[in-house]
Amino acid sequence: MYLARLLLSPPSCRSREHLRQAVAGKTILITGASFGIGRAAALLLAEAGAEVLLLARSGDQLAELADTIRANGGQASAYTLDLSKPAEFAPVAAQIQAAHPQIHIIISNAGKSIRRPVLQSSEKQDLERLLAVNFSGPAALLLALLPRMLAQGGGQIVNVSSVSAGPPPLPRWAAYQGSKAGFDLWFRSLGPSCGAGACACAACICRWCVPA
Ligand SMILES: NC(=O)c1ccc[n+]([C@@H]2O[C@H](COP(=O)([O-])OP(=O)(O)OC[C@H]3O[C@@H](n4cnc5c(N)ncnc54)[C@H](OP(=O)(O)O)[C@@H]3O)[C@@H](O)[C@H]2O)c1
Repeated sequence: MYLARLLLSPPSCRSREHLRQAVAGKTILITGASFGIGRAAALLLAEAGAEVLLLARSGDQLAELADTIRANGGQASAYTLDLSKPAEFAPVAAQIQAAHPQIHIIISNAGKSIRRPVLQSSEKQDLERLLAVNFSGPAALLLALLPRMLAQGGGQIVNVSSVSAGPPPLPRWAAYQGSKAGFDLWFRSLGPSCGAGACACAACICRWCVPA
């Protein structure tokens, strides 16, 4: 257990000072910032000196988080966006880009999971719903934000992926695994598609996370 923690999460990766050196002064957009991993990441990054742009559907949660960050001396702005409604993306992206001259890092974190036997999933439209939030929505949002990032010399994009985005296939998780795996592969081709060195795309593979 100790060895696994040391290899998967070496002390240098947990150093607040290293984080500060990497992100202080940068503008970082985080999707799914209202709860869970996204909220915890926003707090950590803001504490390390980054300006954080918080996206999700729950406007009240985002406003409360932005207030907390500002009260602690950080910089944060909240934007409500539903990843299953691509018609919203262009106006929200334009609003964000008008307010922030440069986005250095995008953390594509928002996601949803449904655990259900596959033969019961079609009446609930599980696949359609998960593809929208885990694949087509995040992909379309990145495509809306990428042109300016590339025009400004590039940036970094992080995909909060899952250990379930690959084999082994698990019963009851077909729609989740399929949607996460699809986005994972699309995302891996994004860096090379943008041109050598233009965008650094990295996947962060989560296993079981319960943010404090
Ligand atoms: N927790 C784990 O053990 C674990 C393991 C592997 C991978 N992951 C991945 O890690 C990421 C975060 O997971 P989490 O556990 O922190 O999830 P969570 O606590 O359920 O939070 C999910 C976030 O995504 C947002 N979201 C959901 N549907 C959305 C939509 N239609 N439009 C915009 N935002 C939406 C939610 O905000 P609103 O509801 O306010 O919109 C929320 O902020 C996900 O991509 C997940 O697949 C998590």
